[in-house]
Amino acid sequence: MTIDIQTAQPYQVSIEAGALDRVGGIARGCGKPGAKAMLISDSRVFPLYGERVKASLEQAGFPTSSYIFPAGEQSKLISTVCDMYRALAEADFTRTDFIVTLGGGVTGDMGGFAAATFLRGIGFIQVPTSLLAMVDASVGGKTGVDLPFGKNLVGAFHQPMAVVADPETLRTLPEHFFRDGMGEVVKYGCIADAPLFQALEQGTALSDLSSMLETCVTCKKRLVEEDAQDMGRRMLLNFGHTFGHALEKLHGFQGLSHGEAVGVGMVMACQAGENLGVTLPGTAQRVRALLGKLGLPTEDTFTKEEVVAATALDKKSTGSTLRLVLLKGIGESMLYPITREKLLAAL
Ligand code: GLY
Repeated sequence: MTIDIQTAQPYQVSIEAGALDRVGGIARGCGKPGAKAMLISDSRVFPLYGERVKASLEQAGFPTSSYIFPAGEQSKLISTVCDMYRALAEADFTRTDFIVTLGGGVTGDMGGFAAATFLRGIGFIQVPTSLLAMVDASVGGKTGVDLPFGKNLVGAFHQPMAVVADPETLRTLPEHFFRDGMGEVVKYGCIADAPLFQALEQGTALSDLSSMLETCVTCKKRLVEEDAQDMGRRMLLNFGHTFGHALEKLHGFQGLSHGEAVGVGMVMACQAGENLGVTLPGTAQRVRALLGKLGLPTEDTFTKEEVVAATALDKKSTGSTLRLVLLKGIGESMLYPITREKLLAAL
C-alpha cells in the first residue's frame, strides 16, 4: 500500500512486506538517473539488511557506498554528522546524488539532517526499520541531532523523496524497541483515532501490522499536510511529549525509553486535562489501562514539581507558557496554552 504525502515536495510512503528489495526501483521512480547513493545505517541494522538494500540500489543503477555508525542514541551527535559529511565528500557527492537512511529514528533523523545540510540540501530516502520510525519519525521531514543540553535541539525540516517501510523488519526488532513504538501508536489513537484506540484495547490492532502502520501514517499525513512547519495543528503529535521529554531529561536519557516516557506523559496530560475540566473523566484511566496491557509504564518516581521544572527547554513553549496537548476524550485533541504555575496546580 502507498500513502501520498502532499507537502511542498510531495512523496509516497510505501508499506509492504519485502519492500526492502524495492528501494532501488523506488529511487529510480524519484527521477535520479546517473546519481550515486550513500546508505547510512548503524552497527545493528546494517548487518541485518544493509547488503539487501545496497544490492537493490545497485541493481537499479545507483553506485552505492555506505556509512555505518555505532547504534544508539549516544551517537546522535553533530560529530557523527560531520563524519557523514566527510564520507559524502570523499565519495564526491554532488547535489544530484542522494542518501538512503536505513534504521530507526536516530538514523533517519541524523542522516536526514546530513541530507538537509550537505551542499545546502540533497535528496534522501527514509527506510525505517523500527516501529517508532515507521509510524512517526520517518514521515514529515523533521531531521536533527541532540546537543548536550537536550534532544533534537539542532535540526531542519527536510522532506524525504520517499519512505519505504518493510513491516518484516519488525521481526528482528528487540521486544523493548517494539514496545517503545507502541507508545506512539497509542498516541495516534488518543489524539485522532478512537477506532484505533479501541482496536488496541481489544487486542485486534496487532493482528494486521501493515494496516496498523497505515492508520498511524494516515493520521500523521493529515497533520503534516496541514502544518508542515509545526506551527499549529501538527503540535497535536506532541501529546504526552511535554512531560515525556522532561522525564527523559530527568533520567539523563537513560533507563526510560522515549515511548515509555511518552506513555507516562500521556497519563499525566490526561490527569491534568481531567482536573482542568477539559478531558472527559475516566480518560486517564483508559489510557493507563491500555499502556499497562502493552507492558508500558504509567507512572514515574519524579515529583510533579521536578517534571514541570524540567519542561524548560520544551520546543513548543513560549516564555513561561507551555502549549500543552490535551484530549477532550479518546480520539479528540486540542492545544491548550497554560503557564507552568497553573499546570502544576492541575497536576
Ligand atoms: N514527531 C512529531 C512530528 O513529526 O511532528
